[in-house]
Amino acid sequence: IIQDILARKIFDSRGNPTIEVEVYTDSGFGRAAAPAGASTGTYEAVVIPVDDAILKLETEVAEQLVGEDASMQADIDYLLHEIDGTDNFSNIGGNTSVAISMAVAWAAADAYNLPLYRYLSGPYQRIPYPLGNALGGGAHAKGATDIQEFLITPVGASLIDEAVYANTLVHKRVKKLLTDEGVVCGKGDEGGWAPQVTDAKAFEIVSKAVDEVSDEMGFEIRFGLDVAATELWNGSHYVYKDRKRTTEEQIEYIAGLIDEYDLYYVEDPLHENDFEGFASLTEKVGDRCIICGDDLFVTNVDRITKGIEMFAANAVLIKPNQIGTVTDTFNAIQLARKYGYSCIMSHRSGETTDNTIAHLSVAFGCELIKTGIVGGERIAKLNELIRIGEEIGSDRMTES
Ligand code: PGA
Ligand code: ZN
Repeated sequence: IIQDILARKIFDSRGNPTIEVEVYTDSGFGRAAAPAGASTGTYEAVVIPVDDAILKLETEVAEQLVGEDASMQADIDYLLHEIDGTDNFSNIGGNTSVAISMAVAWAAADAYNLPLYRYLSGPYQRIPYPLGNALGGGAHAKGATDIQEFLITPVGASLIDEAVYANTLVHKRVKKLLTDEGVVCGKGDEGGWAPQVTDAKAFEIVSKAVDEVSDEMGFEIRFGLDVAATELWNGSHYVYKDRKRTTEEQIEYIAGLIDEYDLYYVEDPLHENDFEGFASLTEKVGDRCIICGDDLFVTNVDRITKGIEMFAANAVLIKPNQIGTVTDTFNAIQLARKYGYSCIMSHRSGETTDNTIAHLSVAFGCELIKTGIVGGERIAKLNELIRIGEEIGSDRMTES
């Protein structure tokens, strides 16, 4: 039974304030913090300013949750929607609700003396493959590549610690190859290198790094993209530094990249309203590449339903803070899975060391987890996966 709910302002990896929530029950304690995006989708749950979020929690939300049973996650999340009264958490804030919802889950797990992933799941658990940002630009590093993220994943690894290690080696190798070419650079918001090079050069470097480290590790490492195409779309064209592309040209371009580089994964190749464009790309290449909707789906059951009906993709990016509760996150995954879509649990570009998504990815059986490669707020999730892997037997990574 929930006794008390507290909120405080903490800071994320960009140094922006965010909300952290603590839930106290008679026998459990839970704490969670909201992450924040930079290239956010239009249809995401609304983020309200942290001071307002804390005020809402203290004056409207806490009193209605106190006395409720923390182990009834669906009821708690339903109540959050009721209290909010809108369909996108624009009243109490999606940041407020996701932090509360996750903290409630932690408190209930604590009361049962279970790790969160075990409390939330059935007997079958598996560790997802880590998908991490080796190089990028876009909204996470203006002036670097047009494509937001060059993502790598060690599909041939069988242990989570060697998978994480492989990603760190590729990350290091990318830096070395850049340096060898005389390119100096810093990192973007998610810890990927942010060089001022053309996208073509980035492809050359990342594919070389992936091939070299693959050979050294003795297992396959693949790479892919988050195009974050909504950020490039000006209403009629996709605007790159060197040229513009129409929708048809964009589809041809992405399909060409998938063939040329044998891309494993492409996220948001088209803008957030272009279900048709997604569908025609998926028809072309969906048999050999994961086509994932992030801003397209925003973890929202209605938008995922539309995508399924239109054969718009074959995978869904899962960001709990896009939809605002643990239950809505679970429902999105259930729906996607039912129709054979892969699910990729994901961090945001603004993160804290909160590791809830590591647990959710295991509990809900996600095939992949996108949570960076380096940086304390990214490695916090990866290290938690290593701990979870140790507990459940780290040979149980998914076969992709
Ligand atoms: P965001 O970007 O967290 O800045 O929205 C991540 C992504 O587009 O996947
Ligand atoms: Zn994305």
